[in-house]
Amino acid sequence: MKRVALVGGGVGVPPLHFLAARSVGSGVAMTAFVGARNRARLLGVEAFEALGVHTQVSTEDGSAGFRGTNVAALAESLEELPVGQVLACGPTPMLRAAAQLAAEHGIPCQVCLEARMACAMGACLSCVVETTTPGWRRYQRVCTEGPVFDSTDLVWETLSPLCAL
Ligand code: FES
Repeated sequence: MKRVALVGGGVGVPPLHFLAARSVGSGVAMTAFVGARNRARLLGVEAFEALGVHTQVSTEDGSAGFRGTNVAALAESLEELPVGQVLACGPTPMLRAAAQLAAEHGIPCQVCLEARMACAMGACLSCVVETTTPGWRRYQRVCTEGPVFDSTDLVWETLSPLCAL
């Protein structure tokens, strides 16, 4: 069975750890790709390992694990570790890179977005993102329709890094 790649950076790591904790024992093989700028900023590595989740560390300065981004680490490992699903949570540039890599390899990818939210209950529309999902409103609210979206449903060019945290 192909594995699930959990691609997390920064504040996106804890939600993926929560997901992994809920999935342990389900028979789904997982690899967590945890990335940060440097060793000091790595988050959640021991927590994933404590769950028994295969974990690949990457740092942009090479101070721990793979030198480069966690998406680059995923790309490099795809031949050895075939992936059937990418689940990504973290900074928008990381999500964009994960979505692009998944699309290039025909791997389904879901991304968990963050957005500035004024009401968090669907009323103010401060959190909308543009989507292409047929049959839905062109704009969807991260707080109510999200925060998890299929990466192919998002109009990435309009997803400003300034709108997402
Ligand atoms: S935060 Fe108000 S609609 Fe999403």
